[in-house]
Amino acid sequence: MVVGRFEGKVAVVTGASSGIGRATARLFAGEGASVVVADVNLAGGEETVAQIAAAGGEAAFVATDVTDEAAVEALVRATIERYGRLDCAHNNAGINAQPTLLADSGVEAWDRMIATNLTSVFLCMKHELRVMSEQGSGAIVNTSSGAGVFGSVRTSAYTAAKHGVIGLTRAAALEYADVGVRVNAVCPGLTDTPMFRSTEGRDAEQTARNLAFSKGRVNAPEQIGETVLWLCSDEATDVNGQALLVDGRYGAERRLATRQRWAPLEDLLAEA
Ligand code: NAI
Repeated sequence: MVVGRFEGKVAVVTGASSGIGRATARLFAGEGASVVVADVNLAGGEETVAQIAAAGGEAAFVATDVTDEAAVEALVRATIERYGRLDCAHNNAGINAQPTLLADSGVEAWDRMIATNLTSVFLCMKHELRVMSEQGSGAIVNTSSGAGVFGSVRTSAYTAAKHGVIGLTRAAALEYADVGVRVNAVCPGLTDTPMFRSTEGRDAEQTARNLAFSKGRVNAPEQIGETVLWLCSDEATDVNGQALLVDGRYGAERRLATRQRWAPLEDLLAEA
């Protein structure tokens, strides 16, 4: 039997068939939580559950398309039917897209991106918060991105969706703080997952630029998962409505670069 910080707790992780979601699901289970693995990828979901079971943990897979409200409602219902409560949710499922300049982007690709990376977070939170506010406790972590904090080229829809995730996180944190539910966002930098590797193939130039900026550093998915667990844990009971970059020095250096670019203007203002 596994004993840890999440003993007796129940966690839902979306996008848990792969990458960051799988890492978070495994870490939750490794610390004693019963984990509901949600994803559209059935084989990957079953594999995550098998990995958790092999390590002595408890998990169940619920096939879920997070863009479909009925499916999300069914996911939360299945969680309660099986495990009786919902303590932690990592709303993490997401896609990336073909790199395209904004003026060349189609509405269909925009709609798909917003549905998968933003509306999904709204739908998940809507149904999770109903349960958590009735319980009077809970912690939610939504996956945004460095692109949710900074601009990013040839990814306008992705960037807009990930900025939106941070806005939704802040709004929900304000609305539900009084009923004992915390809502935060995690903003991964480059993270070694199938999504990152597919971007490498499709937009090698941008990936090379990002890698140069991050001094070649790429996160392991577990580093993001550890942050999600901390945000859900009792150690973070005073952390609410935050968007936490987990990217080594990438974000810090981008801020520095921006300041340097504007330094002459600041000097001018100081002299005026
Ligand atoms: P991944 O591609 O390995 O995993 C994403 C998972 O989401 C997949 O299992 C996929 O089947 C699932 N998914 C996609 N659409 C879905 C839908 N409609 N319903 C249910 N599940 C769906 O990607 P990764 O890297 O683990 O990404 C996880 C999250 O982290 C995403 O939100 C992504 O935008 C974000 N992120 C990733 C970064 C990276 O460098 N890998 C950097 C910043 C953010």
